Amino acid sequence: MRFAADTNTIEERLADGLSRVEQLFDAQLRSPFPAVEELCCHAQRYRGKMLRPTLLLLTGMGSTQGALIVTESHVVAAATVEMIHMATLVHDDVLDEASVRRRCQTVNSLRGNETAVILGDYLISNAFHLVSRVGDPALNLRLGAVTNALCEGELVQLSRRHDVSLDRATYIEIVRRKTAVLVGACAEIGARLSGASEEVVAACYRVGEHLGIAFQIQDDLLDLTGDEVTVGKSIGRDLEKGKLTLPTILFLEREGARERAAILRAIETRDGETLKSLLLASGAVRGAREYACSLVASARRELAALPQLQVRAVLEGLADKVVDRAN
Ligand code: IPE
Ligand code: IPE
Ligand code: MG
Ligand code: MG
Repeated sequence: MRFAADTNTIEERLADGLSRVEQLFDAQLRSPFPAVEELCCHAQRYRGKMLRPTLLLLTGMGSTQGALIVTESHVVAAATVEMIHMATLVHDDVLDEASVRRRCQTVNSLRGNETAVILGDYLISNAFHLVSRVGDPALNLRLGAVTNALCEGELVQLSRRHDVSLDRATYIEIVRRKTAVLVGACAEIGARLSGASEEVVAACYRVGEHLGIAFQIQDDLLDLTGDEVTVGKSIGRDLEKGKLTLPTILFLEREGARERAAILRAIETRDGETLKSLLLASGAVRGAREYACSLVASARRELAALPQLQVRAVLEGLADKVVDRAN
């Protein structure tokens, strides 16, 4: 799924910006070594939804009164955030022992964990090499803080695997760090590179943070209820890897002893079908979805700070698609 814009001029500018991002992304990963080139080509063949660069380019266009221009700095920053994101996916698939990503085989399943670990490092290294081109130490510092938070989120998550006492606040904090801090930074950086006011920059961060949490909740719902062909990646990994997600947490908060015992049994025996039907029948899936939708509504309210009405409308559409998606 590509997040398309509604308005012609903005749509064209966004499409043009994204194609510059893709070109830069590919150029950055060019290598004289066939072994490296081949791996990077594999990574480039499978493009994702480009949510993070899209958000960065849109807040870049929408956060000031001036012309809707996508500058070279926006393109570099957008390629950088997508590269950081891809690095996390390559490593995440090792942790999750996933075999399918973006409808293709994962690097770990194709070439093994060792190659995937180093390729993830290579992508992170290239991301920071690339963003240094902007020549703005504050941007490097900001992205360094983002990748630190991301790793912290993953480490806390790892430490709480198979822990059925994980509460809602801790789950949200993990998700905020592992996913939403990067999405928030994308929205923030787009605005900052356009010279937006501190007030607008801060509102953009909040937009991205709310959307990032909602995005991960929806991703977790797809892992529980989706199928591999539609979602385009290995599913059921959260149960397999002992990651408790929002529907289960809500179920354990709300239900009585008998129901709790039934769900804990399903988790322990990795019985995905029973888990899914208990969570669907109890309304816990609906509860998680409602929570994600309320975050999208908060993001939409924060968008009121953006001065460009047409871009704001496109961002509102993008916000809705964070939860209304099947992949
Ligand atoms: C997947 O992100 C990882 C999460 C943070 C949930 P995306 O769903 O944005 O992945 P691609 O880039 O579109 O494949
Ligand atoms: C990964 O979460 C989040 C990252 C920041 C990489 P998931 O493990 O749920 O992501 P998918 O479902 O594999 O894309
Ligand atoms: Mg995963
Ligand atoms: Mg997932």
